[in-house]
Amino acid sequence: MHRSDDGPDGRPVSVTGGRNPEAGIVFDAVGKSFAATRGATPISAIKDVSLTIGAEQFVAVLGPSGCGKTTLLRLADGLIQPDAGSIRIFGNPPQPGPDIGFVFQSFRLIPWATVAQNVEFGLMDLDLTKAERADRVAQNIDLVGLSRAADAYPATLSGGMRQRVALARALAPDPRVLLMDEPFASIDAQTRELMQGELMRIWAQRKSTVMFVTHSVDEAILLADQIVLLAPRPGRVVEVVNVDLERPRWTFDARAEPRFMELRRHLAEQMRKLVLADPSSEFFGRDFVPH
Ligand SMILES: Nc1ncnc2c1ncn2[C@@H]1O[C@H](COP(=O)(O)OP(=O)(O)OP(=O)(O)O)[C@@H](O)[C@H]1O
Ligand SMILES: [Mg+2]
Repeated sequence: MHRSDDGPDGRPVSVTGGRNPEAGIVFDAVGKSFAATRGATPISAIKDVSLTIGAEQFVAVLGPSGCGKTTLLRLADGLIQPDAGSIRIFGNPPQPGPDIGFVFQSFRLIPWATVAQNVEFGLMDLDLTKAERADRVAQNIDLVGLSRAADAYPATLSGGMRQRVALARALAPDPRVLLMDEPFASIDAQTRELMQGELMRIWAQRKSTVMFVTHSVDEAILLADQIVLLAPRPGRVVEVVNVDLERPRWTFDARAEPRFMELRRHLAEQMRKLVLADPSSEFFGRDFVPH
């Protein structure tokens, strides 16, 4: 399960392997600090993170609250710049645009626009004819199974449906890279399970390079080729775990596989240790969590 080149000590951690060895996302000794208030000592959000994610790989970023998961995604999207090190997306500096899709936990839909108009918004930066645009919108709405709700407004949709609109909007430009920040965290357990299946199915068709942030060990194992475990304060890579479960994983009960349970036991234990060892966690130093 451990890879010999895993390195909390800053050595490059490679999560390539699998289908395509071309590097999709590369973090090279990346650091990022934030000052909570002007003049205050900056907090190191990410420190010395080196990571190579292969093209068309699905990588889950797992870690307790405050370990820099969202910061990593924002850096990968070019929304913020690193203080140290560099980031490359298919060899180029990150730049927000149609090549990178971002799915936010909070959906961020436009309330006065219909489902179709929200998805069309994702195509804003592309030079398409009216017919091509309409085609793309319809195709992506169909992909997430919302064709019958194309003319509905977000307020009339369930949480799961809204999240699917956000997913269709991110997928519409057919991005090479898809960044997802806890996209299913606020969806009920049943819908979440269905959405995980949907995402696996869509990814099998589209094959983008995915960075998927989650707090959930089970979700990470179910979806990912590799799991990058981060420790908090400062955010750093502790371990990269290969998920050697067969694909597609929606054709069998992956959670019942002995390998799934083994991975879960290991990762849950690691997460528990990280939380109990974090002085700013409310669980710091306690040891009542079952293991
Ligand atoms: N804009 C900002 N200004 C100040 N501090 C920030 C900013 N963004 C992030 N931080 C700090 O950087 C650290 C990492 O934050 P980040 O949001 O990346 O963590 P996270 O792993 O996504 O957490 P969560 O699981 O709660 O979403 C935290 O200590 C956070 O308070
Ligand atoms: Mg976050």
